[in-house]
Amino acid sequence: MKQSGLSRRLAIEARRISSQHRQLDELYGLLLGALEHEPLAAVRRGFERFRDALEAHFAMEDDVHFPAFHGLRPELESRLTALIEEHKVMRKALDDVRTCLKSGDLETGAKFLDALVVRLARHEEIEEQLIGGLGKLPQD
Ligand SMILES: [Fe+2]
Ligand SMILES: [Fe+2]
Repeated sequence: MKQSGLSRRLAIEARRISSQHRQLDELYGLLLGALEHEPLAAVRRGFERFRDALEAHFAMEDDVHFPAFHGLRPELESRLTALIEEHKVMRKALDDVRTCLKSGDLETGAKFLDALVVRLARHEEIEEQLIGGLGKLPQD
């Protein structure tokens, strides 16, 4: 594959990552709404939707996007590794929230969730800055 073709593919993948971040924001917004106004069963459903989407997003980044970015820019290795490590930390946080919701401890679950989304927002910002440089479509 020619370099410009690879860059174009990466630009498309970079936009896909950003668009998934916005979808995750929406799912989190729905979950927050459930936390404020809905019974526990609806909160659990909202959380599972958010969790499934976030897990799928992490898996795509770990297995597809980051290896491709690394192929193009090997010097990014340490930063990509740090992002992959942070996925592990956030998967653990998702498990903690889930455990709380299963036991009906909404208050602690909401606190864990809060900390998780603050971390996630910072993580997404770093990713978008990192991939933004890769995401320049050639002007042709
Ligand atoms: Fe990520
Ligand atoms: Fe991401």
